[in-house]
Amino acid sequence: MAILVVGGAGYIGSHTVYALLEQDPNCTVIVADNLSTGHRRAVHPKAKFYELDIHNRAALDELFAQEQVEGVIHFAASSQVGESMEKPLEYYANNLGGTTTLLQAMAAADVRHIVFSSTAAVYGEPQNIPIREDDPTIPTNCYGETKLAVERMLAWAKGAHDLNYVALRYFNAAGAHISGEIGEVHNPETHLVPVVLQVPNGKRPGVSVFGEDYPTKDGTCVRDYIHVTDLADAHILALKYLRNGGTSDVFNLGNGVGFTVKEVIEVAKDVTAHEIPVTTAPRRAGDPAQLVASSEKARTVLGWKPCYDSLTTIVETAWQWHRTHPDGF
Ligand code: UFG
Repeated sequence: MAILVVGGAGYIGSHTVYALLEQDPNCTVIVADNLSTGHRRAVHPKAKFYELDIHNRAALDELFAQEQVEGVIHFAASSQVGESMEKPLEYYANNLGGTTTLLQAMAAADVRHIVFSSTAAVYGEPQNIPIREDDPTIPTNCYGETKLAVERMLAWAKGAHDLNYVALRYFNAAGAHISGEIGEVHNPETHLVPVVLQVPNGKRPGVSVFGEDYPTKDGTCVRDYIHVTDLADAHILALKYLRNGGTSDVFNLGNGVGFTVKEVIEVAKDVTAHEIPVTTAPRRAGDPAQLVASSEKARTVLGWKPCYDSLTTIVETAWQWHRTHPDGF
């Protein structure tokens, strides 16, 4: 039986494919990706690759007819918070529309398990820190809204189609595979860690800090950074949980420790031994002041335990990737 990783050529998807094959070199991993933001060279050489768009029902039906798929790990989505505010309909079409077609094809092919890539952005401005899964979900951006809509769709589809799901709400994914073979490549890049590392790489003169007047210890936003390989492991555990009869559920994934934007920049200075000039810019629309996870539920129910939980290690692995691949793949 095979595991289908949809969006397996993207950042978190490609790391999950590596982790699947590292943990079980004999497992069959199939990657489906339309390569709109993913990279063919990020796909593990031992994975079978389908260049396929999840809006294409006929192509999905064909894939499910060809392969014995037991479970799906679904990453394919538009995932830029800022862009989602400018192109909300595109986000609904890609994230809700694409996933609807995927679920229809799964139901028709009798594929029962799906691990869905959700986000901390479903919470919006949190009412409690650390955030728990049963805290209110009031997204402040369209990206989070579409991911929450998919979570709700999964809950409805579950009963009707005998589908089991786990939705994983990631906090801030960062870092790169320990081997240095794959890492984060977005174009344009907007995420803090890779943006900061563009300075020592000679790609930008400095970093704009979006807002210094937040109610945090140094006035900049606080985020919970989580290593991409730890996220990958959680997907594998979630699939095992479903295969073992676990009930459908949602889980936060973070380290439970918040770092300010300025603290991240300080760590990057130490790791790279390079100056990182900073300028203050206005707040970015839709940014909550603090996002820090309680991942107790993932730890106790899934048995998840992050291995790369220091921010220094996260930035070191990211730097190893970026300094050796300044232009990406
Ligand atoms: N930031 C800057 N300057 C930059 C880039 C980012 O100051 O050049 C700040 C942001 O304003 C924010 C923090 O750094 O306060 C982190 O920003 P990122 O863009 O790296 O990450 P976000 O927290 O905005 O979003 C990420 C993912 C989303 C996910 C969210 C959940 O990109 O998909 O985490 O926390 F929804």
